Amino acid sequence: MSYSAKIGPSILSSDLACLGSECVRMMECGADYLHLDVMDGNFVPNITFGHPMVECLRNCVGPDPFFDMHMMVSRPEQWVKPMAAAGANQYTFHLETTTNAGNLIKEIRESGMKVGLAIKPGTTVEELAPWAGQIDMALVMTVEPGFGGQKFMEDMMPKVSWLRSQFPSLDIEVDGGVGPSTIHKCAEAGANMIVSGSAVVSSDDPRSVITMLRTAVSEAIQKRSLDR
Ligand code: DX5
Ligand code: ZN
Repeated sequence: MSYSAKIGPSILSSDLACLGSECVRMMECGADYLHLDVMDGNFVPNITFGHPMVECLRNCVGPDPFFDMHMMVSRPEQWVKPMAAAGANQYTFHLETTTNAGNLIKEIRESGMKVGLAIKPGTTVEELAPWAGQIDMALVMTVEPGFGGQKFMEDMMPKVSWLRSQFPSLDIEVDGGVGPSTIHKCAEAGANMIVSGSAVVSSDDPRSVITMLRTAVSEAIQKRSLDR
């Protein structure tokens, strides 16, 4: 199996006036990557930040931390080049926002970033499947995108299980309501990239939460490899 457990805190629920230091704090607490939520107030009913902020964050944290850009925007093709120039490592766009996913995948790759493809709770995993061979990561949303701190949708887990069975080495990410009380469902279903916002950022001990989440996923990966 070529995938491993990775934990990516979503800094959406942190003190937005201190984003740079919050990113540094998450990396110091053992985060494997940072999940940055870009919202345009159109695709989702909320607005966050764009590529100028990403550039500042990159300057603040240095070259190493991996930036997974969760692009909750209506026109994802518009931001590929600016995000690459700002220092993004992966560009995760929503399947619902484009009629030409193939072209966008190509553009993202040509700009030097990895490709993530996200689906909202109402989008079936069969719609994502045709692209799975061309992407680095599939993101199965476990809440309606737009806000941190929502309740985890356990009924999304069959999508994760199906993807894992069909694409054994694909990176599969879950995002929304994931924390110590819901991680085991995600891990058992086969997710290996774990976004966690409020559960990590608002914790008194983010390092322990990150370690706990990673351990749960690593154990599930190990169990799956023994079962094969
Ligand atoms: C929601 C965002 C998430 C969010 C996760 O639209 O995509 O990344 O910040 O936060 P929690 O873990 O609090 O649900
Ligand atoms: Zn997100």
